[in-house]
Amino acid sequence: MKDIKILKGNIIFTKNIKSFEVHENSYIVINKNIVVGIFKQLPEIYKDVKVTDYNDALIIPSFVDLHIHAPQYLQMGIGLNLELIDWLNQYTFKNEKLFSDVNHAKKVYPHFVEALYENGTLRSCIFATIHNKSNQILVEELAKKKLSAYVGKVNMDQNAPSNLIQTTEDSIRETIEFIEENSNSELIKPIITPRFAPSCTRDLLKQLGNLSIDMKVPIQTHLAETKNEVKWVKQLFPDCKSYSHVYKKHKLYCNSKTIMAHAIHLTKKEINLAKHENVYIVHCPNSNMNLTSGVMPLTHYLDKGIKVGLGSDVGAGHKIGMQDTIASAIQCSKIRHAINPSERILSESEAFYLGTKLNGSFFGKTGSFEQDYLFDALVIKDEHPLVDSLKPLERLQRFIYCGDSRSIIARYLEGQLI
Ligand code: GUN
Ligand code: FE
Repeated sequence: MKDIKILKGNIIFTKNIKSFEVHENSYIVINKNIVVGIFKQLPEIYKDVKVTDYNDALIIPSFVDLHIHAPQYLQMGIGLNLELIDWLNQYTFKNEKLFSDVNHAKKVYPHFVEALYENGTLRSCIFATIHNKSNQILVEELAKKKLSAYVGKVNMDQNAPSNLIQTTEDSIRETIEFIEENSNSELIKPIITPRFAPSCTRDLLKQLGNLSIDMKVPIQTHLAETKNEVKWVKQLFPDCKSYSHVYKKHKLYCNSKTIMAHAIHLTKKEINLAKHENVYIVHCPNSNMNLTSGVMPLTHYLDKGIKVGLGSDVGAGHKIGMQDTIASAIQCSKIRHAINPSERILSESEAFYLGTKLNGSFFGKTGSFEQDYLFDALVIKDEHPLVDSLKPLERLQRFIYCGDSRSIIARYLEGQLI
């Protein structure tokens, strides 16, 4: 019994995408790091185990962010009058250049990691920068806070300012070094990160594709975020059938587990390709709106059987907490529905499922409280004097739309209070 932990509260999660599972005033039993079960009455065998009683608080799966840029933390909300390419050139590249100085990383990354922790994003897929010394600071800060993440050293060897691109050889060599240096941690793992097709030569893309297969490392990148970007890719890669086929041709799509952020402007053929089991398309609603990129047809993709996750895309996204991204995903689907009624609205349980269980599946069995899932959880105590009159599920809805990190009173990753 020494490995057993028991928490009590109002337990809510989404086993299935279509509905919330609510267990009012119930016990959740955890063995080491894994969920044993949820009980209304505690079974006799556990009668001597101390219960951590969170009383009226909500216990929910912690959030997972499948697309976020660590260096852009300070940039949130700035320059959002621009569209993607101008925003990259006028703000983002200048900001990322600062990370050539490791002292800048030491200044910024602790705050970024603290913000993830505060907001209950206990796992995330992160773009760092091209600079490995600074990237290692990010890894160290995540480890100090006991958060889980895939961290990517960014690859660029063309179409960026000269001090942000590397030679193809340097980019590959440093990617291998970053992967090797970070292959022994359970919680923090490397991920191959070509920024997007325009910033990579064919040679770089090809070598990264081979690397992902040889070293068994997943991939994250951007796909079809704006119409101008899609046009640019067509000019750069005229022999490829589509933007997706640029990645496919270089073994960066479908061969290894892959995150494709945005994917707003896809052809029918590309939509069919995205159904591949290794592909996670990531919807970043705040970023879509901020950079006037368009809005991904999320429910259309879901109904086609595509795995679609959610990302904050900080700093094009202006909020680091996933509850805001979940609410924005619902709002965006309503706008698309209002313009085209044949596209349905994303339900609240669907949006929550994407931000917890679907996103979590990129990391393994996490994001749900089913038996044998890793116990990754947040305890939410909404202190407002009037919330007593609300049911637990109403309180969760209110937290998603109106709450913030102040309501999160405890965080568990793999069964450990962190
Ligand atoms: N495409 C290439 N780089 C970026 C980036 O940093 N943010 C977003 N939103 N899209 C990109
Ligand atoms: Fe992004």
